[in-house]
Amino acid sequence: MKRISLGTTAVDVPNVVLGLMRIADKSDDEVRALVSAARDHGIDFFDHADIYGRDLHGCERRFAEAMRLTPAQRAGITIQTKAGIVREGPYFDFSYDHLIASVEGSLRALDTDYIDILLLHRPDALVEPDEVARAFDELAAAGKVRAFGVSNHTPRQIDLLKASLRQPLVANQIQLSITHSPTIAQGVAANMADFAQSITIDGGGIVDYCRLHSITVQAWSPFQGGFFTGVFLGSDDYPELNAVIDRLAREYDVPTIAIATAWITRHPAQMQVVLGTTTPARVAGAALGSDIPLTRAQWYELFRAAGHTVP
Ligand SMILES: NC(=O)c1ccc[n+]([C@@H]2O[C@H](COP(=O)([O-])OP(=O)(O)OC[C@H]3O[C@@H](n4cnc5c(N)ncnc54)[C@H](OP(=O)(O)O)[C@@H]3O)[C@@H](O)[C@H]2O)c1
Repeated sequence: MKRISLGTTAVDVPNVVLGLMRIADKSDDEVRALVSAARDHGIDFFDHADIYGRDLHGCERRFAEAMRLTPAQRAGITIQTKAGIVREGPYFDFSYDHLIASVEGSLRALDTDYIDILLLHRPDALVEPDEVARAFDELAAAGKVRAFGVSNHTPRQIDLLKASLRQPLVANQIQLSITHSPTIAQGVAANMADFAQSITIDGGGIVDYCRLHSITVQAWSPFQGGFFTGVFLGSDDYPELNAVIDRLAREYDVPTIAIATAWITRHPAQMQVVLGTTTPARVAGAALGSDIPLTRAQWYELFRAAGHTVP
């Protein structure tokens, strides 16, 4: 498993991590088998959010109850969680009171004294950056949160926060897969007329901005065709893409999921792939994509086969 430095920190993290959004109905044994497969393949980084699960903090609680980590086991893993979405509505809330209450709830549900990384889940149109800064300062000073980041944020939204924050933002978690990659695809077709792909829909180069500012990009839904529309792997909707993935999987002697993972890890931005599968064998297969040296020709072939234009 290839490891990278998280953002501007010296914290060493794997470039394939496990998201736990889908474990609400899993038994203790199933959660333990999933986490154990991850650990066996070098994944010691776990992504949560307060809203994952049927109830608030449900998946965080499921994880903690199944794992019952000793202090030494807790110290051996990185736990990331998110705050800022209110499900009933829904609406977004980056107020001081909401962020503090969410973190306190996560700490209780996860049965831990600290969260390694807290992400602001989705941009709040009503954000007051000074309030976010006050919440972050207090959480950091109390030792309750060790690092902070964002998710689904544009470069300008990050700049706005950074003008008030005293802590660095170490990560930006965005939806990114071969088929859903507007932040990369737009740049490839920049300055072209008559291409929908040329239109900026992400505030202008999220990935480039994160590279410039040493913010680690984390790719969520790495195998979904679109927004929770089902995986493209093996799907009849993506025959050309699957033909290329299948051929490269044979060439590198890995499962197809490893090639889809490698398309993200091969990018020089040093991204992390956030897996959402609850199937241990798929975790193992994806981990094999941590460091496959796809050539430029192969990377672009996958990109074109997913329907993107290379003008
Ligand atoms: N920041 C955000 O806004 C945001 C939004 C969404 C998600 N996330 C994070 O990203 C993580 C991943 O998201 P995701 O679950 O949508 O991503 P994903 O890994 O692309 O999708 C996993 C889902 O696809 C299913 N699947 C079916 N066939 C598969 C195959 N051949 N290979 C792999 N999976 C297959 C899995 O089922 P099985 O479980 O049965 O294998 C699982 O339900 C989440 O756990 C969460 O931590 C963040």
